[in-house]
Amino acid sequence: MGTLFDIKPPAKTTVPETKKIKTPLPKKKIEATPEAKVETKVEAKPEVNLSGNPEAVIGVGASGTRAGMDFVSNDIMAAELALSTIGNFEPLDIRIDHWKIEEVINEKYSNDWVDYLPRTDRPNNRKSLSLTTIPGWNHQSPPSLPEATKNLGRPVRESEFCVPTDLYNDCDRTGDPSKKSLKAFLDEWQPLGRSFIVNSGTGGYFVPHRDHPGMPRPCFRLVCFLKNCGPMDYDWLMDDRKANIEVGRVYYVNTRMTHRTISWVDDSWHLILNVPMTLANVDKVLKNLQHRH
Ligand SMILES: [Fe+2]
Repeated sequence: MGTLFDIKPPAKTTVPETKKIKTPLPKKKIEATPEAKVETKVEAKPEVNLSGNPEAVIGVGASGTRAGMDFVSNDIMAAELALSTIGNFEPLDIRIDHWKIEEVINEKYSNDWVDYLPRTDRPNNRKSLSLTTIPGWNHQSPPSLPEATKNLGRPVRESEFCVPTDLYNDCDRTGDPSKKSLKAFLDEWQPLGRSFIVNSGTGGYFVPHRDHPGMPRPCFRLVCFLKNCGPMDYDWLMDDRKANIEVGRVYYVNTRMTHRTISWVDDSWHLILNVPMTLANVDKVLKNLQHRH
């Protein structure tokens, strides 16, 4: 019987060259002959828009992306590894004075909510106010990537939504020294990507989806629940598991994992931050975990 020391090192293997993943070219469209066109002519159906918003993005999967793997630096690899080990819905040692956000919105912005990603294929019951946006836009400008892409006529990056809105600057109040004002919290994570408050009505939902599942991803998500998000008011599910929510607490949420949400009451508010995926920002998450040794 041999000993551990008898084990020979494995034969030298050659590492395959890193290849860029190529996406297949779109197939050439085959034009039908005039005769075939006559035979296959079908009466056009009137377009249905279930959202009630004429600006709605058309069709299913409007926000879908098909990003896969691309070059990932060692820094980002380390950052992703660190995030993947802490969990998927992790409370941070940061609390925001959600009462003061409500106060500011009630004083000045209560009539300013705009539809969040209305789609023609379903009714819409979600609104939002932007905290950061594209240069020249404001707190009522489209907060979702598909809507912004439709408005600008070109693909838009998360990092372009970097300008603080009036709402961002007005939310500078706190009545509790253990809680930050929303502005103070946002300032600490600058430069930010697209950041906004979602307001779900009764039945307002997001279907199961993943955000930025490709590698590398431009941003990761921090989320804070602000109003009407109690256990019987609002559900956020990671896969099939309902998350425990403390209102006002900031969470790192792994939104690459399939998640879905639904509100059972009106005026259920939560805050979404797109934080650039950098080593420094991931370091900040680790240093602010609520539960530590
Ligand atoms: Fe999401």
